[in-house]
Amino acid sequence: MTISFDPYRALDDATCATRIAKAKEELGESAVILGHHYQRADVYRFADLTGDSLKLSRLAGQSAAKYIVFCGVHFMAEVADILSSPDQVSILPDLSAGCSMADMANLAKVERAWQELSSVLDPDHSITPVTYINSAADLKAFCGKHGGIVCTSSNAPKILEWSFSRREKVLFFPDQHLGRWSGYKMGIPLEDMLVWDPDLPMGGHDEEAIRRAKMLLWKGHCSVHQMFQPSHIENFRKRHPEGFVISHPECSFEVCKLSDHVGSTETIIRTISEAPSGTMWLVGTELNLVNRIAEEFRDSGKIVQFMSPIVCMCSTMARIDPQHLLWTLENLVEGNVVNRITVPEEEAKLAKLALERMLEIS
Ligand code: 13P
Ligand code: SF4
Repeated sequence: MTISFDPYRALDDATCATRIAKAKEELGESAVILGHHYQRADVYRFADLTGDSLKLSRLAGQSAAKYIVFCGVHFMAEVADILSSPDQVSILPDLSAGCSMADMANLAKVERAWQELSSVLDPDHSITPVTYINSAADLKAFCGKHGGIVCTSSNAPKILEWSFSRREKVLFFPDQHLGRWSGYKMGIPLEDMLVWDPDLPMGGHDEEAIRRAKMLLWKGHCSVHQMFQPSHIENFRKRHPEGFVISHPECSFEVCKLSDHVGSTETIIRTISEAPSGTMWLVGTELNLVNRIAEEFRDSGKIVQFMSPIVCMCSTMARIDPQHLLWTLENLVEGNVVNRITVPEEEAKLAKLALERMLEIS
């Protein structure tokens, strides 16, 4: 019988750590724990494999383990289910670990936008739908069905090149910031990008504006990355003119523009690790990752600072705590699967098409 979560609530972290290690040992190669870079330290330490969204999608597809325990957020566990084989099981230790940005677009709203666009042009011939991997599986399926594709923060410019080589426009959802920065990097003028507000008829635009636009950017954002401000960078530069600034492309355009480097979590780690000793870095991304790299690179004489004066954590990812991880693993030891993430077959087939197009290109 499934073990209930209730007795786990009161367990202290030290007890959890000892029991997680024991459960992992008992499960051996039948279970793999994947951990996103934003995962809290007390969970991240138990991950067998870590990475950014692109790397983790690849690893999920390549893993031979029966159980893929995803310490990340819901859309990541969905991708693991889609890309793994049918006899593998994808598990999210706490089902409330969602992504608020992913929730800013849903299938009903995207289909309505497509419908509205079809009153102005023929979207299936003139617009490539591109969804950031931070989206529900049905939106990835929508892209698969309409000749579109998935992107991550590390391959977005490449994916846009692919998209524009096929159709003249792109509808990019749900993160306007990643879309804008990636489009800008490939030379699309800002005036050729429109913000599509899904709560307004025709996204808030007239026919003429839609015909002229190259990119339609969904009005969505990450609540963590929107906390970083240009003033944080300006203050840092005044105090440390020799320092470097690196930001995640989910930050606003103004923050990206003022940064020396912009890239995914994996790129941020690599860039700082390859930098000379003695360099100083201001980093605009989630706090758990910044704390980890600050610690990791301290011995090589690099100083890493968090961009915002206030705490910006991915509070949903933080719901995967040691208690939930332990509960999941001990259930597996007893032969019970809890919190399985399953994408319906038809949806998974189309979503896989859009994901495989991405994996092939990147
Ligand atoms: P990465 O692609 O850099 O992992 O970022 C994904 C993400 O937003 C998790 O929030
Ligand atoms: Fe979603 Fe933002 Fe958390 Fe990433 S940091 S998982 S985009 S809410």
